[in-house]
Amino acid sequence: PKYWLIVPAAGIGQRMKAEYPKQYLRINNRFILDITLSRLMDSGLFAGCMVPLNADDQWWPESDASSDDRIQTCSGGTERVDSVLSALYALNEQVAADDWVLVHDAARPCVHSADLANLVSTLSDHSVGGLLAAPVADTLKKARPGSEATVSETVDRSQLWRALTPQMFRYSLLVNALETALKEGVPVTDESSAMEFSGNMPVLVEGRPDNIKITVPADLDLAGFILGRL
Ligand code: C5P
Repeated sequence: PKYWLIVPAAGIGQRMKAEYPKQYLRINNRFILDITLSRLMDSGLFAGCMVPLNADDQWWPESDASSDDRIQTCSGGTERVDSVLSALYALNEQVAADDWVLVHDAARPCVHSADLANLVSTLSDHSVGGLLAAPVADTLKKARPGSEATVSETVDRSQLWRALTPQMFRYSLLVNALETALKEGVPVTDESSAMEFSGNMPVLVEGRPDNIKITVPADLDLAGFILGRL
């Protein structure tokens, strides 16, 4: 089977309070999206890459990736899941049913090449796939609903993981799972949740906790620091 990469980049990054979407903020004068794409494409693993973009995107033509002929674009959708499905459909002519698709957030530029290699080698013989994830380090509190947040209980963290990306699944299983989850109205915040709903349980592959998703402005400095040390 071949490996295909999807990097959803159609979000508008509301939580960043910036003038443009977070994938087009710059670290060391490069778009975050360009850093992410080059870190993954440099692996030489992928037969192709599809990047779903927002209909109002004005920045892609300025990216380094736009002149890379291994990278194709398609139009994204309202939610992340719509963007990923649109990319899966756009790849349809080129892929086989049991090819692997790796989905990675544009906003995670700190992904480590050793984690990518480990994910792929761990799962290459698996029938479903899985995801990079990191064990939860903090003690977790569940809040009692109400105007003032009060603890209702401490949650046992020993079995809890933070879902990271890439998430890697067989092409046709992923398409079916995302379509079903959308139809049934199941919340899909990552590909794994749709797979879980379909009953195909993904494997957790431990990854570095510094594979952060840039979400709020302070994450930009943190990502710059992490990238400097990778
Ligand atoms: O907003 P959030 O941090 O969950 O976005 C995760 C990734 O999904 C980002 O790379 C963002 O650009 C992408 N996304 C998308 N289409 C959407 C919403 C988010 O491709 N409609």
